[in-house]
Amino acid sequence: MEIEQDFAQRVVVITGAAGGIGRATARLMAARGAWLVLADADEYAVDRLADELGGISSGVLATHHDAADATSTAALIALAASVDQRIDVIVPSAGIYPESGLEETTDELWSRVLTINLDGVFHLLRDASPYLTAGSSIVTVASVAGHRGSARHAHYAASKAGVLSLTRSLAWELGPRRIRVNAVSPGLIETPMTEQLMATRGEAAIAATPLGRFGKPEEVAAVIAFLASDAAGFITGEHVHVNGGWFMAG
Ligand SMILES: NC(=O)c1ccc[n+]([C@@H]2O[C@H](COP(=O)([O-])OP(=O)(O)OC[C@H]3O[C@@H](n4cnc5c(N)ncnc54)[C@H](O)[C@@H]3O)[C@@H](O)[C@H]2O)c1
Repeated sequence: MEIEQDFAQRVVVITGAAGGIGRATARLMAARGAWLVLADADEYAVDRLADELGGISSGVLATHHDAADATSTAALIALAASVDQRIDVIVPSAGIYPESGLEETTDELWSRVLTINLDGVFHLLRDASPYLTAGSSIVTVASVAGHRGSARHAHYAASKAGVLSLTRSLAWELGPRRIRVNAVSPGLIETPMTEQLMATRGEAAIAATPLGRFGKPEEVAAVIAFLASDAAGFITGEHVHVNGGWFMAG
């Protein structure tokens, strides 16, 4: 049995597409023939990415999206559904990672992180559900923080633990429809999100990592593409760590 990892004419929705991991995933999926619906709060950046990938004549759409706004997410799904009345792959990669200790975390900041990182994923997947068919695949983007916590990022770690639990719950619920739901859990990856952390605590993080470096967004994208593809056809409800050995479960 030969199993393909290509995405020819599959409708792939990526949020946070202008970010480091979303962008690498979009490039890889485009190279494998996907029809892409790219969404990001940074409209200018996501438009430029779509242009780079050939634009509408290559089956690449770009749209502004605010993951904190359920109406914006509904509009994104309506756009994706307009391509071919179905959605084959969803990668919710939009996220924020502000630093704040427990006592300085306001209600507003707590809510903002949970709203974008967790509620946004729920809204996206709920609204996409009617368009998912047998063989469709969801790959959420969690984090090592969702497994072991993260000092001064309790809101972020809680949101990512929520994403992991949402992922497993939907794997149970959507499995009978032959829809797979998995997560990737990146460690420290070189993207705009981690620039500040790298500058302040980069050396310590590298020293704690068996492979002795940060990860590249392309190394996360490769795992996302694998999990989304038919090559992972019997994998659901799982998470794959991509962290250079930084977190090893005993
Ligand atoms: N970089 C890492 O080390 C790392 C580690 C673990 C998990 N992650 C997760 O990977 C995902 C992608 O992160 P990244 O490293 O590519 O970060 P990034 O900052 O490069 O990209 C995040 C993207 O999300 C977009 N975004 C932010 N708020 C949004 C909103 N309200 N609505 C829509 N889009 C919004 C940003 O414009 C940006 O393009 C995130 O969910 C992040 O939590 C990253």
